[in-house]
Order: sequence, then structure tokens, then C-alpha cells
Amino acid sequence: MNMNELIIKKRDGGRLNEKEIRYFVEGYTGGVIPDYQASALLMAVYFNGLDHDETVIMTKVMRDSGDVVNLSEIPGIKVDKHSTGGVGDKTTLIAGPLTAACGVPVAKMSGRGLGFTGGTVDKLESIRGFRTAVDEDDFHSQIKEIGIAVTGQTAHVAPADKKIYALRDVTGTVDCLGLIASSVMSKKLASGSDAILLDVKCGDGAFMEDIESAEELAKLMCEIGNADGKPTAAVITDMNQPLGNAVGNSLEVIEAVETLKGRGPEDITELSVFLAGCMIFLGGKARSREDGVRMAREALNSGRGLSKLEEMIGRQGGDTGVISDYSLFGEALCRADLVADASLAGYIYQIKARTIGIASQQLGAGRTRKEDSVDMNAGIYLHKKVGDEVREGDVIATLYSDDEEKLKAGLEKASSAFVISTEPAARPEVIKKVIGI
Ligand code: URA
Repeated sequence: MNMNELIIKKRDGGRLNEKEIRYFVEGYTGGVIPDYQASALLMAVYFNGLDHDETVIMTKVMRDSGDVVNLSEIPGIKVDKHSTGGVGDKTTLIAGPLTAACGVPVAKMSGRGLGFTGGTVDKLESIRGFRTAVDEDDFHSQIKEIGIAVTGQTAHVAPADKKIYALRDVTGTVDCLGLIASSVMSKKLASGSDAILLDVKCGDGAFMEDIESAEELAKLMCEIGNADGKPTAAVITDMNQPLGNAVGNSLEVIEAVETLKGRGPEDITELSVFLAGCMIFLGGKARSREDGVRMAREALNSGRGLSKLEEMIGRQGGDTGVISDYSLFGEALCRADLVADASLAGYIYQIKARTIGIASQQLGAGRTRKEDSVDMNAGIYLHKKVGDEVREGDVIATLYSDDEEKLKAGLEKASSAFVISTEPAARPEVIKKVIGI
């Protein structure tokens, strides 16, 4: 077998068998197959797709490329949650503590932001002292003691995905259904949780822009998880505007804390409580999904979710003072308001999430290259959301950065994200569809 034959086979619409997929994944991960051949194969896959069997095999081979974490010594049904990536998505920081507060252990390995989407690990690192690198023993004992740990993904979990995803990110081959499904599920199946909840984003700021492809992706991932013996469900959620009002690392942590205090934006509150409800049901602590949602809401209203977040921050070395004193996050050196001129007056019809994500990245909140550092206080606070009326002179958004040049670039980009209509626009439903639960 050689790589050139595989590329030609896939280029001509052929189907790769298990031996061939293994040859590619193991060869590329091991450094035997060069980037240029791997890129060519990925592009052939991008154009011709992976069929069901190829996707299942790809998932299995990538899962087995590293350690498959064993959490069985931790009592209870451990539930993981994964978002396919969005803008302003801080639900892990809210749904995780709510779920744990209801007795379901949450063992969460999260990623960093790359491109226009944010990552939970970067957000948590905006809290002074917070450790996202936790060794396995400590990870286990933390979950046993307080019921939740949110850490970075170790290099030993699905290393093949890590390497292939980095290549896809720079070769225009990310938004391919079979590649996304196998990438997400290989990590999830290797991470050791017993049940999985997927938040599949849909819209302009997501890899899946329409509901049909989001549903196809969601169903495929659920099927892969269930076939592996891990109950898997999915919620398809809106990404036609950023989630909540805050985009950027410390801004999003503050919004998560506010939400756990009962003062969060409506969309982020509704989605986080719903996701937590599904996780509580999957974790066997609720009789139904609705019962789970009721329990999650009670944990929010009673403040038990907030206490759980505080406990987690403290256990992972972070400064718990941030819960009551947001000034401990520090402040960006520069800020500017985006003020509506005549062209932005009317009703907000859409806020292009991808554009806001790119603007936030330009402000310094995200990376252009993997090795870039992140400005923890950079980002965007949206004062208006879809459906709101805007009058000339209103402040639509406030932008933060440590650099005047970046602030200017971010401001120009962010102003192009707003689509205005003369008629009042309906507020989009944040939860579009639920699958498998
Ligand atoms: N998230 C992942 O983990 N992988 C993808 O391919 C896309 C989103």
C-alpha cells in the first residue's frame, strides 16, 4: 500500500477500507506520511465525502491513536458535553456547574480557541492562577471530591485528531461532515465519560450553516456514540448571532458568573439550563429531560450552581475573588464604542457571528496561529441583539483591546456584522432541535 494509491482512489470516488484508513491515520500521526500527501487526501475526502462506514472506522482509528481514559473508578454516570464551536459560547462554565450541583459528575476536557471560535480553556485561564493542566490522578480525585473538573485535553488523548485537525485548519478541509463527526467523536470516546451531550451549532457562525446539515451531523455523531455503548444525544442550537452579549475570554467568564447569579442574558440562560437538564437526565439523576431542566433551574435559582463554579475555581488554583469582584480580571488598555450611524438605525435582523468572532480575534482575544498568545481582556460586549431597535447615536457594542491599531481593525470589522431591517425582526429560537433524548 502506498499513500499515492490512496489519494488517487479517494480522488476518483472510491471507498477506503479499514486497512487503508489505518495506514493513513497511523502513518501521518507517526510522521511517516508528509503534510503534502495528507493534505491531498483530506482534500479528496472533502470533495467526495466519507460514507457511514468510513466515518465509523476513521473515528475508531483516531480514538485508538492514544490513551482511552478510564474513569470507571469514579462513582456515578460521568457526562461530557461538546460544542461543535461557536462565538460567545460559554455554556460549559454554566451548564457544567449546574449539572455537578445536581449530583452528576462532569469530567470535561476542553479545547483552546482557534480561528474565529473561542475555547473554554482560554476563558478559564483569564482567572488568575487557574490551572487547566491537571494530572490524571488529580483529575480523578477532584471529580470524586467536588463532582467537576474542566481541564485542557492531554496530548495523549486522540493525538491523531490533534494532528489531522491542525492540518485541516490550514488546508480548507474543516467543514466536511465525515471529518467533523470522526474528529469530535474520536475525542469524546477517548475521554472516558459514560454519556455524551453534543451541542451542534447551526448558522452563519458555525461549520454547519443550515439545519439539514446540522441535523445530519448530529444524527451521525449520536449513532457513532450509541454504537460504542455511550448514550449520546444532541441539541441543535442557533449560531446566527453570538450567544449572550459577551465575546472574549474574561468578558465571557464574567457573563457566565452573572448568569449563575441569575442575571445572565436570556439566550445563554435558557440554553445553559437546557443543556444541564439534558446532562442531568443522561447522568441518571432525573426521570425525564423536563425533570432534568427543572432541577437545573432550581440549582441556578438557589445559587448552588454558582457555589459549584466557585468551588471548581478554588480547587484548580484560581482566584475565587473573581466571583464577587470582576476588577480582579484586570482591564484592557483601550476601549471604543460602536455607535450607530444612519446606516445602522432600524431593527437588528442578524449579527453575523462569524464576523464578530473574527473581529474579536483581531482585537487580540483569539489566535491566528497556534503559538499566538491571547489578550485575556480583549473582546466585544454587544449592547443590542437580534430583534432590538437601534436609533442613530445608540451604542451597539463596546470593544476592548490592549492595542489601538487592533482596536481600529476590530471596530471596522464588527460594524460590518450587523444586518439591519426597517421592520421589527423576530428573535431567533436558541434551541432548534433535540435529537436522541
Ligand atoms: N470540532 C472538532 O473537534 N472537530 C472538528 O472537526 C470540528 C469542530
